[in-house]
Amino acid sequence: MTDLAEALTAAAAEVDAALDDLLPPEEGDEASLFAAMRYATIGGGKKMRAFLVLESARQFAVARNSALRTAAAVEMLHAYSLVHDDLPAMDDDDLRRGKPTVHKAWDEATAILVGDALQTAAFATLAHEDTHPDPAVRAELVLRLAQAAGCRGMVGGQMLDILAERAEAPLDEARIGRLQLLKTGKLIEFSAEAGAVLGKAPTHPRHALTNYGRDIGAAFQIADDLLDLTATAEDMGKATGKDAAANKATLVGYLGPDRARAHAERLVEQAKGHLDSFDDRADLLRALADHVIRRRN
Ligand code: IPE
Ligand code: IPE
Ligand code: MG
Ligand code: MG
Ligand code: MG
Repeated sequence: MTDLAEALTAAAAEVDAALDDLLPPEEGDEASLFAAMRYATIGGGKKMRAFLVLESARQFAVARNSALRTAAAVEMLHAYSLVHDDLPAMDDDDLRRGKPTVHKAWDEATAILVGDALQTAAFATLAHEDTHPDPAVRAELVLRLAQAAGCRGMVGGQMLDILAERAEAPLDEARIGRLQLLKTGKLIEFSAEAGAVLGKAPTHPRHALTNYGRDIGAAFQIADDLLDLTATAEDMGKATGKDAAANKATLVGYLGPDRARAHAERLVEQAKGHLDSFDDRADLLRALADHVIRRRN
């Protein structure tokens, strides 16, 4: 295994343990809700956004517990977005992370509520005093995650994604770029920036991390769209070959796979360029940038 693969595996295990601590145990009258929340978050997924939080926090010697709670909160928010993304009213998917989606394993009402509950649990985690001793830092994390996830972030991007499916004329490149910046980029940007917020970092390194996150986020979604075209459901743990049939607005559809891949490669180089003033502690972030377009799932 490469250093990056080992570090990703170790971070995923640590974040799974944090999620296990933070989410309610499967007991009481709402046990089925709690079980489904755990099913959607623990033990599956690459935990790449969590890894970004942990690595960005490492640049500023942030306390591990602060970084882990923030990483777990981002993964709760992300898992909520996936549970809702898979609903019949959205992408209508039956498989996620190699398992039946929440609305298949339970039902649609449970899946809607799991998303709602994971979203609020993410904000409660950030706002809790155990996340950081300084209330101003906690408030800033809450504000930035709300901006990244809300109507001018992930939710807005998901709306554009659904509207584009139904549109008569295809979106142009700039509009597809904006859709992807919102639906995927903003949460990845927040993840890369979060360590700087926790570490009260100066403006320059903080902005560098935000810009790095924006570029790898854009590259990450292009890679996801390329994998939809080329990978198997077995490798991805989710259905593939669906975007073109669903009339999804993607850069792969607009530019074709070769030009889209070249664009993603340029974004990765640009992302690493933002880290030029960082020392070798940022090497895993540099390696992650390369990985987002080389990954196989
Ligand atoms: C899937 O995200 C949704 C996209 C933004 C493409 P990931 O590929 O990070 O999904 P998991 O968390 O590893 O399952
Ligand atoms: C989803 O994008 C992005 C989210 C905000 C959840 P996709 O719809 O392409 O993600 P997958 O392919 O289902 O993971
Ligand atoms: Mg979608
Ligand atoms: Mg989807
Ligand atoms: Mg996809």
